[in-house]
Amino acid sequence: MQTNQAAATAEIWRPDPDRFLDPIEYIRVEHERQQEICGLLESALASAPDDPSRADLDAVLHYVVEEMPNHILDEEEGLFPLLEERCRPDDGVRDILELLRLEHDVDRELAARVRDSLQALLDARPFGDPEGFLRDCYTFVETQCRHLAWENEVVLPIARIRLTPEDRESLGRSMATRRNIDYPD
Ligand SMILES: [Fe+2]
Ligand SMILES: [Fe+2]
Repeated sequence: MQTNQAAATAEIWRPDPDRFLDPIEYIRVEHERQQEICGLLESALASAPDDPSRADLDAVLHYVVEEMPNHILDEEEGLFPLLEERCRPDDGVRDILELLRLEHDVDRELAARVRDSLQALLDARPFGDPEGFLRDCYTFVETQCRHLAWENEVVLPIARIRLTPEDRESLGRSMATRRNIDYPD
């Protein structure tokens, strides 16, 4: 298996506590990170499907296991309920939030399968269905991109308008707590 120590994209994400003072911006930055991970997975499989970079796969696995679950909870338990409380009917976000919640469920299922196969690949263990693994990876990338577009183009801009300073602080605090990080006082 190749190594790719120079890959900046393989860096593990470690948030600075001050980032939680602006939780909407933090979520946007995490979306950039997600796009980066999707690109990493896609290019690793396209350039070396039988022997992808270990560093790249490590980064993808870290994202799927450690980062993505927190991100989904930030939205489902924090951002989305606040939006439902603050948004007006003509904002038109309720149906979009419902769709995004359903997509989170699909993401969780896909991520679990991709995680298990990635771990087997990294451990040099055989795994049952290589073609299914590739199919899951590309489906994962495709659904992530569509999901991110909705969130970046619709959800976050409305959140910037509707969430109050108190909402932002409670969201930022809950996101920091979820990561065992002290919220800056
Ligand atoms: Fe998101
Ligand atoms: Fe999401």
